[in-house]
Amino acid sequence: MTDGSPPTSDHVAHAPQSRHVPVLPAEVERHLAPRAGQTLLDCTAGLGGHSALLATKVLPGGTVILSDLDPGNLARARARVETAAPDVQIVALRGNFADAPRRLAELGLAADMVLADLGFSSSQMDDASRGLSFMRDGPLDMRFDPSGPTTAADLVNTLPQEELAELLRDFGEEPGWRAVAQKLVEERRAGPITSTSRLASIVRSVVGSRGGPSRIDPATRTFQALRIAVNDEMGSLRSLLEAVLRAAAILERSARTDAPASPVWLRPGARIGIISFHSLEDRQVKQTLGELVTRGLGKEVSRRPIEAGPEELAVNPRSRSAKLRVVEITAGTNRVV
Ligand SMILES: C[S@@+](CC[C@H](N)C(=O)[O-])C[C@H]1O[C@@H](n2cnc3c(N)ncnc32)[C@H](O)[C@@H]1O
Repeated sequence: MTDGSPPTSDHVAHAPQSRHVPVLPAEVERHLAPRAGQTLLDCTAGLGGHSALLATKVLPGGTVILSDLDPGNLARARARVETAAPDVQIVALRGNFADAPRRLAELGLAADMVLADLGFSSSQMDDASRGLSFMRDGPLDMRFDPSGPTTAADLVNTLPQEELAELLRDFGEEPGWRAVAQKLVEERRAGPITSTSRLASIVRSVVGSRGGPSRIDPATRTFQALRIAVNDEMGSLRSLLEAVLRAAAILERSARTDAPASPVWLRPGARIGIISFHSLEDRQVKQTLGELVTRGLGKEVSRRPIEAGPEELAVNPRSRSAKLRVVEITAGTNRVV
């Protein structure tokens, strides 16, 4: 799940929600196909919704590795998994999922399932002090990791106008990228922009005047762009996907040459499921998972991206832009030992 603020045509300004509902839960379970004794790497533990569900299916003998940049969410996820599946082994990794492959290899762990449910959680969106929502006044922060080096205020108040404009164009797909950046630079001369409400009203003063009535809040794209930049979301996703490709290539090479398998953080036959919420992410997921298939290292578990059905859409508006893609690593599965 995510607020994600995706710039899709059907996006409506999000209403506050206090209860976390994981997206596509049945589809995640069906396509990752968990079995007893397996190891799950949940790259984005969040509030533990998906992990708790899958943890019950890897018993007896299974392991759930939880990773999150947000220490508060990591603790919540751990508690939820412990409650749902008290006998499951839990490994909690605070940090960026881009580092999870290396950390698993160092710990001598290998995953049978990898899940990444991108974006941010309801707990983060609902907490005004995180500065993620244009619906709540708060400091212009947006960091998933509260100890991260750069806040949204840092970017808005210090980036040169041209860089700010490119950020809005590339990560927000904001049609008025030049005008918004120009206005932000003008406004910050009067004093640093430090709150979500001031940022939202500046953006609305530029974007709100264009086009006809829209169901999309004019601040949506700017908030998304800044959040993606603050958390280096595209870079982290790229690193994770490249690590999957590299691991699959190692599994394939060691099976082909009959060399002793080097320790790899993925098991042959592992299933990789990525849930994305906007076209920038989905494009990258589609491209890298597609490369895995064309290189003969994996196969699609579902030919099309999996989306929420009418029942889920009716109860969980966050699911409306979710796309799940799943591949299975076939490299190394025919190794003779
Ligand atoms: C949409 S929520 C996950 C919700 C979870 N699937 C559930 O069912 O509760 C996304 C989570 O991923 C975390 N996150 C986002 N980017 C991350 C990254 N690069 N590395 C680790 N965690 C990340 C966020 O802090 C947030 O807690």
